[in-house]
Amino acid sequence: MQNFKNSTVYQIYTKSFMDSDGDGLGDLSGVTMKLDYIKSLGVDYIWLTPFFVSPMNDNGYDVADYLSVDPAFGTMADAERLIQEAEERGIGLMFDMVFNHTSTEHEWFQRAMNGEEKYMNYYIFRDGEPEEPPTSWESKFGGNAWEYVPHLKKWYLHLFDVTQADLNWDNPEVRDELKKVILFWKEKGIKGFRFDVVNLISKPEQFENDETGDGRRFYTDGPHVHEYLQELVRDTGIADMVTVGEMSSTSLDNCIRYSNPDEQELSMVFSFHHLKVDYKDGQKWELKAPDYRELKQLLETWQLGMQEANGWNAVFWCNHDQPRIVSRFGDDKNYWKESAKMLATMIQLLRGTPYVFQGEELGMTNAYYQDISEYRDVESTNYYEIMLRQGKTKEEALKILAARSRDNGRTPMQWNGEKEAGFTTGKAWIGIPDNHAHINVQSEEADEDSILAYYQKLIALRKESTVIADGQIEFMYQDCLDVFAYRRFDEREEYLILTNLTDKEVRLEQEMDQYAVVLGNYAAKEAPVTNMRCGDMLRPYEAVVLKKL
Ligand code: GLC
Repeated sequence: MQNFKNSTVYQIYTKSFMDSDGDGLGDLSGVTMKLDYIKSLGVDYIWLTPFFVSPMNDNGYDVADYLSVDPAFGTMADAERLIQEAEERGIGLMFDMVFNHTSTEHEWFQRAMNGEEKYMNYYIFRDGEPEEPPTSWESKFGGNAWEYVPHLKKWYLHLFDVTQADLNWDNPEVRDELKKVILFWKEKGIKGFRFDVVNLISKPEQFENDETGDGRRFYTDGPHVHEYLQELVRDTGIADMVTVGEMSSTSLDNCIRYSNPDEQELSMVFSFHHLKVDYKDGQKWELKAPDYRELKQLLETWQLGMQEANGWNAVFWCNHDQPRIVSRFGDDKNYWKESAKMLATMIQLLRGTPYVFQGEELGMTNAYYQDISEYRDVESTNYYEIMLRQGKTKEEALKILAARSRDNGRTPMQWNGEKEAGFTTGKAWIGIPDNHAHINVQSEEADEDSILAYYQKLIALRKESTVIADGQIEFMYQDCLDVFAYRRFDEREEYLILTNLTDKEVRLEQEMDQYAVVLGNYAAKEAPVTNMRCGDMLRPYEAVVLKKL
């Protein structure tokens, strides 16, 4: 078993990380060029988002051939060189398996469209009249989740874009095809896998309308999902690799099963409830200020629930589907540096394996696009139209996109303050925020107080301390909305993590033992030995990591 408990994973959105050939798109050789930078962070694994052959309607999450590299990202030789050069630096690669659906350009779907029965059974087709989809389910990217094919007189299911057709996992041939994909990449020497929306793979036997929702309750954590995952892991022999499943709208109980080692499913899970605390009435496209009470409660419930039942979380704020955390739960104008470091402290020392998304370690911000023409993401452009149809003004819709669009996380990595942020010698495929003038790798590498330097220290702390990696967790200040605080401990050691979630000073109300400060985001408090007492103040967005004396 790989030790994923003291590890940190760095996520690369391949299209936006580094362009090696000047076409404006990130590529595999670009990642290889930057391996020394990644090594300098102290991370153990890279999760690389899909680079397989794809029409790119969903930037590669619409795979047309799982066994080939899309020319836009490079060649198979580039992939092999990346794996090898990463390995030489002690970094393992995790590839992204998009197995809930394929692109409609995949050969399997094309043959299904030709009416070949074998391949029609690879997907979820239902008979029906052109005006009446089989169910009322909604696609996660907007509109009905079924598409009618006139020449077949059938509908097919697509929980995402119309060009992403859901696979029929109840067909053993499909499961066998996907196992071959795993074995192919495993043989190339990678160390792990990330499984895209893997808790949606098992659809119900009967398809029925959802009178109260968008249909997700029928196919989320579906009837055979645990069985299919166990089979996949067993038949491909990946139980000893690092695996993480992306779990959409899941439950704690299911996540315990997905990640408890006894079940032999996955090493860990991504769940997203803590990233919906700024959704009004649960709706992504309705704005609300973050509800910190809910955030605290959710993190506590999941941390304690997983601890009690020996499950394991992936802990994270950012990925390629989320806005930037410093713009979202921090203050990227007045307390940019403090709040970015505070949020890092709060999440990274939890019980679980932390994920850092490219640029998060620099405090990269949202894109702040002003015009719809600047957006590239299919979900964003679809929802812009939907919001206008619902009666929102253009300004309102743009304001919502500016806060919620997935493109906020997809702007190119900011390497330096020059043109195109050092990402490409050409023109980047998507606009780069002006703040790359000061938020960039080059300037932060030269500054020992930078957000980058702080992330390096946090990552190192997990490596050095078995308590952070594997100790118990207990929460403190549960009723104080402004503070998020917890202890990590075992029989020998104890750390206390205190964070102020607000831009105000907060007085600590609780008596504390003697602690020494090991890390903090206000330099002055980093004295070798200090202790925090009842009545002390935490400054705006202050974070301190203390070790019990
Ligand atoms: C996951 C991916 C997202 C993609 C979707 C469909 O949520 O992270 O980027 O659009 O699955 O594959």
